[in-house]
Amino acid sequence: MAIFLDSAKLDEARQAKNFGWVYGVTTNPSLMAKAGVEPEIVLKGLAELQFHQVYYQLVSQDMDGMMIEARKAAELVKNGLILKIAPTENGFRFVAKHGKDFPCCITAIFDPAQALIAREAGAKYIAVYVNRTTKQLGNGLALVGELAKVLAGSQTEIVAASLKSRKEAVDAFLAGAQHITVPCDLLANLSIHPLSVQTVDQFNAEGIGICMNS
Ligand code: E4P
Repeated sequence: MAIFLDSAKLDEARQAKNFGWVYGVTTNPSLMAKAGVEPEIVLKGLAELQFHQVYYQLVSQDMDGMMIEARKAAELVKNGLILKIAPTENGFRFVAKHGKDFPCCITAIFDPAQALIAREAGAKYIAVYVNRTTKQLGNGLALVGELAKVLAGSQTEIVAASLKSRKEAVDAFLAGAQHITVPCDLLANLSIHPLSVQTVDQFNAEGIGICMNS
């Protein structure tokens, strides 16, 4: 199980690193466009924060271009790079050919058949877009469950992405995703519940503990 920040903003990545339990960061070209700095700066900044994993999505579409971009990303990220690969013919081809040199996540998966190919190609991860699937196909969590069945016993794990609420994140994990990636605001709120705040306030107001000044 791993929880990721879904963002390319370095201030949000620093906030996530400071939580102490965030495993890594996932990005995509749209998130990179919102980062406020060039992708090279984003990747250098994420490398400095020393997460376990950093997901970078290739924008090149031909095999040679993908390899050049992959090598540049590896130079920038140094440790823990996971290449996000679009589920295109060349994308699956790249994973099948280079998946042992570059751990890959085939992203934007919307059908179990794509997961079958990802599994055969040797992808380490697939990313399923839960909220987008629910909005456009009807039930993102059901898709997670189907993907989990297709990938059972394989080396390919599921990263649930496109998560917009606490419930959606938890339900995706319960449906069979091994990992989740969430926006910064949701990440900051996963651990907070109003009754927990109320209970701790009560303890602080009336409770006692080891005397700290003895
Ligand atoms: C992972 O990084 C995905 O690209 C991202 O979660 C997609 O989320 P969205 O549906 O809000 O774009």
